[in-house]
Amino acid sequence: MLRVGVCVSGGGTNLQAIIDKVEAGAVTGVELAAVVSNNAGAYALTRAKEHGIPGVCVSPKDYETRGAFHKALVETLDEFRLDLIVLAGFLVVLPEELIKKYRNRIINIHPSLIPSFCGTGNYGLKVHESVLGRGVKVTGATVHFVDEGTDTGPIILQKAVAVQDDDTPKSLQLRVMEEAEWEILPEAIGLIANGKIRVEDGRVVRV
Ligand code: GAR
Repeated sequence: MLRVGVCVSGGGTNLQAIIDKVEAGAVTGVELAAVVSNNAGAYALTRAKEHGIPGVCVSPKDYETRGAFHKALVETLDEFRLDLIVLAGFLVVLPEELIKKYRNRIINIHPSLIPSFCGTGNYGLKVHESVLGRGVKVTGATVHFVDEGTDTGPIILQKAVAVQDDDTPKSLQLRVMEEAEWEILPEAIGLIANGKIRVEDGRVVRV
């Protein structure tokens, strides 16, 4: 079983999608071992509790320096002996030490078709505001491995979603979640758990 830890900052609908697919047997070979949040009030922690998954908060507010927060975050994740770390709406820039230590063992969901509408400052609703502002007709979501850049790691899965003329940032955000994020994030975890992909020369290939 792949021991998976999910890092969250907010509502945790992607976490819920993972829990539902694992519980339904649609994603196999996965043990949801931990949920880690930087925000004590994250509803995602309630979701974890309701499903018997250990949940912990590591908040930067509890540490005097960024370095001390980073150290605590790495230690907490290490303690759970995770095979895979899933960033599901985790709005923390990861310490480089963590990225190096868990090379090709951290994945992230981003609510656009990378390399469009991604990078520093592009997260959450802002992404969908930019999409509508530019007037593109197709957007979507991407699951990728995490490297030292922002949204630059090897792409695992992408799914396109049509933009509608009457979309608001919120309506588009919800449709991208429903049609893309909640599908491809659990699917990517299943692919990794079942040894179906590997990274070769910076690209993800099917095995
Ligand atoms: C999701 O839309 C996710 O793609 C986005 O935050 C939201 C979290 O929602 N992540 C980013 O923008 C990362 N750059 P959730 O807490 O309901 O899963």
